[in-house]
Amino acid sequence: MSTNMLHHLPVEAYTSQEWFDHEQAEIFSKTWRYAGFVEDLTAPGEYLTVQAGLNNIFIIVSADGSLKAFHNSCRHRGTQLLRAEGITDKLITCPYHDWTYNLNGELCTVPDEAREFDTIDKSCLHLKPASVGVWRKMLFVHPDPEAPSLNDWFADITPHLGPHDFTTLVEYPEAATSYEIQANWKIVVENYIDVYHLAHLHSGTLSMYDHAKAEYQFIGPHFSFVEPLADYYAKDIDSNTPTPLILPKEQLAAYVPMLFPGIGLAESESSWATFIITPLGPDKTRVENRVRLKNASAWEFTKQEWKSAAFWNKHISPKYKGDKNTDPIASADFTSEDIYACEQQQKALKSPYYQVGPAAKGESPILEHQKIVLQYLGRPIPENLSKRTTKKPPSSHLRCFSPSSRKRNNPKRRSLSRHNTPA
Ligand code: FES
Ligand SMILES: [Fe+2]
Repeated sequence: MSTNMLHHLPVEAYTSQEWFDHEQAEIFSKTWRYAGFVEDLTAPGEYLTVQAGLNNIFIIVSADGSLKAFHNSCRHRGTQLLRAEGITDKLITCPYHDWTYNLNGELCTVPDEAREFDTIDKSCLHLKPASVGVWRKMLFVHPDPEAPSLNDWFADITPHLGPHDFTTLVEYPEAATSYEIQANWKIVVENYIDVYHLAHLHSGTLSMYDHAKAEYQFIGPHFSFVEPLADYYAKDIDSNTPTPLILPKEQLAAYVPMLFPGIGLAESESSWATFIITPLGPDKTRVENRVRLKNASAWEFTKQEWKSAAFWNKHISPKYKGDKNTDPIASADFTSEDIYACEQQQKALKSPYYQVGPAAKGESPILEHQKIVLQYLGRPIPENLSKRTTKKPPSSHLRCFSPSSRKRNNPKRRSLSRHNTPA
């Protein structure tokens, strides 16, 4: 192993299968994993599946309407039982040898049981339960059936999240995105919590927020961030907002927390979105966004678009001149800018000449996140670096990287990134 470091972590933490596997086992298999919204599952038999580290888990609505979670693995030879999301009838049938389970996870029938098996105790072969919980109308799963409380897990960060009641907003399925970034999941998180880059990488795309006044901090493993609107945007916000406002005037701001591990929220003055990070490999990560806007008529959205068009035409500009369709830095889309930066950083890590430079104050959340990762993995924090960063704990600072760009926020003006791929 080389000794080249990216702050607290060796470069291998971002490139090696060994680190990836360790994180899957110790972080993503031992924490609560976002799975969707409560309205995704309502009728008995409806289910969805989610990967929680090493475990594939499904949540299903049982006959009495309650939510149950099981490991999505047949008790015969382990075949995945349910795929993606959908609705099943009263039984779950494994595609391999047709063992069937009811919605409570009990093994009901084994084909050719008498002929093929001497004795079989079906009561010992129920599906392995997992934990399911609801927090803020969002579904979470945990591979451990005796998982610690979901509410306790988020209790300390909750007062620092946006004041939005997203259940009053309307989801726009056509604004949902799912795309792969060719970078390690920690690079994606670090970009999300990097306050320093906001005024630079996004100088032409996110200047409507006052980054110098951002307040941010880690609370346990979770990160909170809030920054006010820039004065030039706020002074005529009723006209300037691209879609109808969703917060009272005194609370207008961008709230962009990153819950551990890799569960981003982007809660702004005019939109509310999830930013779910799923590691796929040492240098590959999936990001999935779901977007909500005000419950208002199409006419109200159209009027707002007309009112704000001149403002956005004047204040959104590409970082570089170029073909906006092929060059992410010329796209004038901040998500494309971020993806570009993440992928460039991942590429750089492969060079034997790579050496990280000093961390800015606005990058202190990155160092803190690296320490949290090390703690979960039970690996030591490099002494010299931990001293340097604990002198001045990240009192407050972070970022805004809402997955819904201004253009994307507005369903009428939606311009999806070139990176979008089907869910
Ligand atoms: S693996 Fe499921 S029935 Fe054989
Ligand atoms: Fe960014």
